[in-house]
Amino acid sequence: MENGISEISRRRVLTGSAQLGAGMALGAYPFSAAPAMPVKRVAPNDRITLGLIGCGGMGSSDMHQLMQNPEIQVAALCDVDDARMVGDIEFVTRESGKKPDIYKDYRKMLERKDIDAIIVGTPDNWHALNLIHAVEAGKDAYCEKPISHDIVEARSMANAVKHYNKVVQVGTWQRSKPEFVSAIEYIRSGKLGKIVTTRAWRTDGSRVGNHKPQPVPAGFDYDMWVGPATFKPYIPEYTHGNWRWFLNFGCGMTGDWGVHMIDIVLLAMSKDTDLPMPTEISSVGGKLAWPDDDRTAPDTQISIMRFKNPDFILQWETGRDHMNKDGSGAEFVSEDGKVLTVWRGGWRVRDAEGNELPKVEATPVNDHWRNWVDCLKSREQPRSNLASMAQTTIVCHLANASVLAGETVRFDKSKMDIVGRAGKHTSSYHREYRKPWKLPIYS
Ligand SMILES: NC(=O)c1ccc[n+]([C@@H]2O[C@H](COP(=O)([O-])OP(=O)(O)OC[C@H]3O[C@@H](n4cnc5c(N)ncnc54)[C@H](O)[C@@H]3O)[C@@H](O)[C@H]2O)c1
Repeated sequence: MENGISEISRRRVLTGSAQLGAGMALGAYPFSAAPAMPVKRVAPNDRITLGLIGCGGMGSSDMHQLMQNPEIQVAALCDVDDARMVGDIEFVTRESGKKPDIYKDYRKMLERKDIDAIIVGTPDNWHALNLIHAVEAGKDAYCEKPISHDIVEARSMANAVKHYNKVVQVGTWQRSKPEFVSAIEYIRSGKLGKIVTTRAWRTDGSRVGNHKPQPVPAGFDYDMWVGPATFKPYIPEYTHGNWRWFLNFGCGMTGDWGVHMIDIVLLAMSKDTDLPMPTEISSVGGKLAWPDDDRTAPDTQISIMRFKNPDFILQWETGRDHMNKDGSGAEFVSEDGKVLTVWRGGWRVRDAEGNELPKVEATPVNDHWRNWVDCLKSREQPRSNLASMAQTTIVCHLANASVLAGETVRFDKSKMDIVGRAGKHTSSYHREYRKPWKLPIYS
């Protein structure tokens, strides 16, 4: 990614364009959107009815995946920007033969009794309210990652889902991909030996530039887009797609990709989906590559985390340099110097001399969206269930809290809380919501 913004902007243009076919529109996402085969019919009364909150981006990619399943029907779409709904309205109408109902306020959509579950595809500043209001309204959910904007939100979301006994899958689809499943199983089996050092990384080249406020276009409820975040004047280049580089709305690269790659380390170092949590987190970072850029999230960051039981260190790194490796990945080093490396598309194991060792491929699991649909019916918890992903998301927030605080942050898993004061005053821990929005607290 030479100029980071180009990837994001390209995706925005592609996904926002109503002229493009659905498969093309989602080409920049990890999975093809076009159904591979004609779907078999399931009687409407036997189908699971979905509503989508947040169109045009990953939420619509999730919807496309789910609509490949004949048991799924989409009844309603919600977005605060009319322009972002055009392509999705066309897609749902074409695929299902029925125009979906459209909403600008998700709370109205949640009042509908016929909607069983929702997809949360909004920016991070909205996830907590969208999800908690949905489970309060009796809905299950497919929620995009990172689950929250801060630690207090993540805790409350996990408790709300447990309280209402809902089935929530999080969009960390790497948990369902063969290379990651195999690598995790290999580490868990003990074949690599005792792991002492782990790494997760992702290159960041996302420069947003410097832009000026503009009049809000007709059809865009910008005040609702800002929602519980601090109000900022409307700058189009900092909204759709690019909000992730502003800590007021997103969590920078640590929440965007760190949540995927750190998740693989935590999952491999656990026995099940209850993950180990670090006791000490020290980060350095800031806007070192482009100090004059308007983004507020660090463009360079290294976070070192100490885990006990099991005893290991995790290093998360993001920035211009990716250590001469793939642009993103995760790595496990054993006490005798063997290394397992996994990235999107493959994995390998080497001994201390660099010789490649034989791998064992795990039995593939069903796809991420199918796993959620199966769990909606069985009422089991899905592979990326919310309680588990609250843990990974909180690890990302701890890494950011340490950068923002400029201090080592300490964490106690038994309380799921920061110990002491360091990091607690940062927006990665919590922030006041803009009125009239209020975070429902479940404990
Ligand atoms: N799992 C993955 O691989 C993956 C990939 C990309 C993005 N994501 C995640 O998906 C989420 C969305 O990211 P994106 O890049 O698609 O963002 P985006 O900005 O492209 O799309 C978000 C949409 O939500 C709408 N929106 C904002 N507030 C709303 C509200 N209150 N009600 C209804 N609609 C609202 C926006 O208008 C916009 O159309 C983020 O959490 C992101 O981290 C996940």
